[in-house]
Order: sequence, then structure tokens, then C-alpha cells
Amino acid sequence: MTAAKHQPLPLTPMQTEVLGGLSRGDKHLPSKYFYDAAGARLFERICELPEYYPTRTELAILRTHLPTISKQLGPMRWLVEPGSGSGLKTRLLLEALDQPAGYVPIDISDAQLKAYAQDLRQGFPHLNVRPLSADFTADLQLPEGVKKPVIWFPGSTLGNFRPADAQAFLRRLSRWGGGAGELLLGVDLVKPVEVLEAAYNDTAGVTARFNLNLLRHLNHAAGCDFDLSQFRHEARWNPQIGAIQMFLISLGEQTVHVAGHAFALASQEAICTEYSHKYTPTQVEQLAHASGWSLRNMYSDPKNWFGVFHLECI
Ligand code: TRP
Repeated sequence: MTAAKHQPLPLTPMQTEVLGGLSRGDKHLPSKYFYDAAGARLFERICELPEYYPTRTELAILRTHLPTISKQLGPMRWLVEPGSGSGLKTRLLLEALDQPAGYVPIDISDAQLKAYAQDLRQGFPHLNVRPLSADFTADLQLPEGVKKPVIWFPGSTLGNFRPADAQAFLRRLSRWGGGAGELLLGVDLVKPVEVLEAAYNDTAGVTARFNLNLLRHLNHAAGCDFDLSQFRHEARWNPQIGAIQMFLISLGEQTVHVAGHAFALASQEAICTEYSHKYTPTQVEQLAHASGWSLRNMYSDPKNWFGVFHLECI
């Protein structure tokens, strides 16, 4: 019976992902685990940082152009949001829409989703809120009766997909509700490198804490033993792929363990934790077109730092 002792425990899906990422030559960690409760709070603080322009720029675009957008969408539309609610932005959109048929927030975290739906019903007592607990990157079925949805995907979350995945995701969206829907897509645009790098290397160090929080979360949830004091945050522009890349850099030679598997890290070795691709308006239009969408309108700010793209199913 002693042999059984040495049988490795079956791995959880999360551990399998972490092991896969750390086994690569260029080590990666899965970015979807940034957003535990602490991570979600830190991200809210990021959105308020002076250097982090995307949130306030997108909000300003919405404040200026929502009356026009709403008129073009027309009355009685269903609003569908992959990801459960982008706070103020979603509220502004819901207020601007002409008698929305209902609102479907989609999120993988059932608890977060229910709390959010409850909260929203207070502010919009007449709105038909139909939360859907699902992985929005996989195939899913919208609630019965949701046709020609207006899909709302703000915050440049599309930039966190690799371009091939972004295309596949946009293609999936084009089929939601039987197709023929519209898409309001917020995308961060290419701009001077100094502005981009500052947005992900804030002087208050909140982004660093957000990045390091991934290790803390994995320690708790995936049985890892990362020593947070042995890593530093770094974000830099990668001109080859047109993306800001987030890294955690090992401060010295060290060994980390994941579910009993050991990984050696060299001094200054980088683990990539996130991509944030930046696009030109033309690139967004091409990407959309290759995935079943055509451009109706694009709304931007005076500096052209951020774009809200209004797309319709081809
Ligand atoms: N969607 C956001 C972006 O790409 C996410 C984000 C902001 C982020 N700051 C970050 C992700 C730092 C990881 C690390 O701008």
C-alpha cells in the first residue's frame, strides 16, 4: 500500500493550466485568474489611476456619443454583455437605450453575477435582467427570445486575447441569438509608447500589486508556493506583436512548486502574465470583417486614444 502514497493526486483544471504555462520555454501564467475578489478591487483602483487613460477615455466617448448610438440602435433591443457589468459604463448605456427589451450579463462567477444582477435591479426596477452564468469564450445559448442582440464588450478586453483568438471570439459573437445582431466594441488604440508603458507601470504601484496578486491567488487556489517578495512587476511594449506585455520577473534563482511539481527559475527570468494588444482603427475594421462584422460607425476622443466601434453582422 506504500506505493499508493506516491501516486500523484489528480490535477484540477487550474493546476493543469498553471503547469502547462510554466512548462513552456517562455513561461506564462493564465491571466484569467487575475480577478479574484482582491484582484477585482485592485483593478477598480487601476481604472482610477492618472496614468490609466482607457477607462476615463472610453467613458468620455460614451458620454458624448451615446445619444447618437442609441438612436441608431432603435427601441426595444436586448443588451448582452460578456463579462458581468462594467459598472458606470453599462449604466450609462442602459440609461441611454430606448426602452431596452432586457439585459443579459454573462459571467463565469455565479456569485458575482447574482450580486451584480441584484444591484442593477435596484437602480433599474423596470429592466428585465436575465443573468447567464457561463464561460463567454465557449459556445453558449442566450436565453429564449433574445434575438438580434446588441452585444456590449467594452474596456478593450478584446486586446487581452491573442489576435487569432480575438478573431475566433468575434466570430462566435456574430452567431449569438441566431445572428444578425450588433456589437459595440471598445478598443484601446495604438499611441506613443511612453503613454502606453506609463499606463501599465503606474507610479503608485497599483498595477504591480495587481500583477503580483495573481501569484497570491494561485498559491491559495492551485496549491502553489510562489514567494511574492521574490518577483517584480514589469510591463513593456512589444513592437513585433503590437502589445503591452505584462511580466513577473524572478529576482533571483529560485524553485517554485505547483501541486508537487518543481520549476526552476533563473535570476531575471520573466513569466508573461498578460497581453494587451493595441490596434489601429483599420486593424479593428479588418479583424471585425474577417469575423463576420462590418463597421457602421466608429467613435473616438479628440486624441484618438480609444475607439468605440459600432459593428453589425454581415
Ligand atoms: N483590459 C485591461 C487592459 O488591457 C486589463 C489590464 C489593465 C491589466 N492593467 C493590467 C491586465 C495589468 C494585467 C495587468 O488594459
